[in-house]
Amino acid sequence: MCGIVGYIGPKEKKEILLDGLQELEYRGYDSAGIAVIEGEKLNSFKAVGKLENLREKTKNYASDGFGVAIGHTRWATHGKPTELNAHPHLGSYSYVVHNGIIENYQELKNELLSDGVNFLSQTDTETIVHLFEKYHKEGFDPFEAFKRTIERLEGAYAILLITEAAPDTIFFAKNGSPMLIGFGEGDVYFASSDTPIIGKANEVYYLEDGEYGYVQNAAVHLFDTQGEKHFTKAPLVADKAMAQKDGYRFFMEKEIYEQSRVMGETIMGRVLENEIVLDELDASFFEDINAIKICACGTSYHSALASAYLFERLAKIRCDVEIASEFRYKYPLLTKDTLFITISQSGETADTLEALKMAKRAGLKSLSICNVDNSSIVRESDRAILTRAGIEKGVASTKAFATQTMVLWMLSLYVGQEKKTISSDVLKREIDAMLHTPKALIVEDTLHERIHRLSKRYLHGHGFFFIGRDIFYPLALEGALKLKEISYLHAEGYPAGEMKHGPIALADSELFTIALMPKTMHYDKIKSNVEELSARDATICAISPEPFDLADDFIQTQYSSHPMVEFFEMMVVTQLLALEISIRLGNDVDMPRNLAKSVTVE
Ligand code: F6R
Repeated sequence: MCGIVGYIGPKEKKEILLDGLQELEYRGYDSAGIAVIEGEKLNSFKAVGKLENLREKTKNYASDGFGVAIGHTRWATHGKPTELNAHPHLGSYSYVVHNGIIENYQELKNELLSDGVNFLSQTDTETIVHLFEKYHKEGFDPFEAFKRTIERLEGAYAILLITEAAPDTIFFAKNGSPMLIGFGEGDVYFASSDTPIIGKANEVYYLEDGEYGYVQNAAVHLFDTQGEKHFTKAPLVADKAMAQKDGYRFFMEKEIYEQSRVMGETIMGRVLENEIVLDELDASFFEDINAIKICACGTSYHSALASAYLFERLAKIRCDVEIASEFRYKYPLLTKDTLFITISQSGETADTLEALKMAKRAGLKSLSICNVDNSSIVRESDRAILTRAGIEKGVASTKAFATQTMVLWMLSLYVGQEKKTISSDVLKREIDAMLHTPKALIVEDTLHERIHRLSKRYLHGHGFFFIGRDIFYPLALEGALKLKEISYLHAEGYPAGEMKHGPIALADSELFTIALMPKTMHYDKIKSNVEELSARDATICAISPEPFDLADDFIQTQYSSHPMVEFFEMMVVTQLLALEISIRLGNDVDMPRNLAKSVTVE
């Protein structure tokens, strides 16, 4: 999703912007651009495609002396990914970058068109810069013109605007899309997330919805509906080394290998010998709660689906799960004895955030499970449990999914513990399995090598079915999503028992079935389902601890005494399979086509 970087100060600005945008690449983009004003000089550059193209275009340019600068990576929404549609957008003497969607842009554009304004792009963003210049030309000073512009906008935005009319100033506004201000030594940075300013700024302020203002020289003036306000900066603590590839071919590969370690962090201090401790929640949190509703999107939705089995089975609490974009428009019936949980890796997913706001308006208690502290979803929730996965750079989520699922498993035990619906024996059995999980996530060379060799047989065909039962059904959905995201091959996840109700019609030797066959859960049932497919000549790749004669290919996992341990082991297998197939197909594993890491539009 779009990324924003801004800078005001004396340093060379091109490199600050390009390096910052590079850090935001993981959000996904299809064009990029920068604009710089130094003294009277206004320069801007745009390029379609990867940032190297923009680097190439700017190679003979370097800024000089004090100035203001803004940069943007665009993920196309209104209008194709072309240079004209790339940000920054120019009026006559001002530039704007924007993340989000201006919902009333057509109405504003019509108004400006009737004033004789000429539009160059198809974007909603361009209306902002023309509206600003309209008010400025009417005689308002630049800040008043900016303020009036913001007041006219409906929708989600993070905006930076620079203008020759105030060449020592950056104007900013935030509503619904993320943006922060970083404070360095006599200079100020803006960014959509922490990463671009790590190592540059020492302190940070995370803008809240409805805040806007300007930075003149190094002084930040912040406003909301009540007028100018004071704000408190927080120290910027983050470790950039974590975000490097460490010798792996792709971030996704590194993140698969990291799962064992980060899982240790996720459970640290939370999973004790006989008890689950969640400092984020107090004893009364579940007092009036009789049901759980979880809303999420994509991979996060799959972790939610898996957890619904656990909440009902272990904690004996009703739990239903909804895709956030569906929930938003269904006029859901919400009762105040329901805890509303949102799950999000980024904490910025627009649909999930809106679902959360709806639930809050209905008076529900809210809890988010998230990987990014201070993200919009975390800040909007009553309580938050962080997954502690560390920065995830691969667009296809791996360690975030693993840690989300772990937090949800812990939470199910915690609810059982608080509501006294779980016996101490069952609690102990679950805790033992949890403590064993980091070990089960270690990627053995032999396993990776085997998957690498097998992957060459799965580069064609007319599709994949990932099948599983119980918690292995959401894992099948997730395995299929991972494969399709990075290989661009068609893949579906199905409950194994459902195949005979239609999908089995597709079975032939070119249909690849990835069968999740845990030994601890419904083994005989899923075996029969796989036999039915094998009898119709489908090509079967079985993932199981138990050798299976009818499989064309077999990936052996460890025997274990607990389904969740099998779950995590099989998760790694499906991730590696997707990775190896994608690499063989020559795809960009970390930045698959058309996808964005942080989906901040509806
Ligand atoms: C897939 C993937 C997406 C996200 C989805 C929700 O690998 O990462 O399906 O899970 O876009 O994003 P978050 O979790 O950030 O709310």
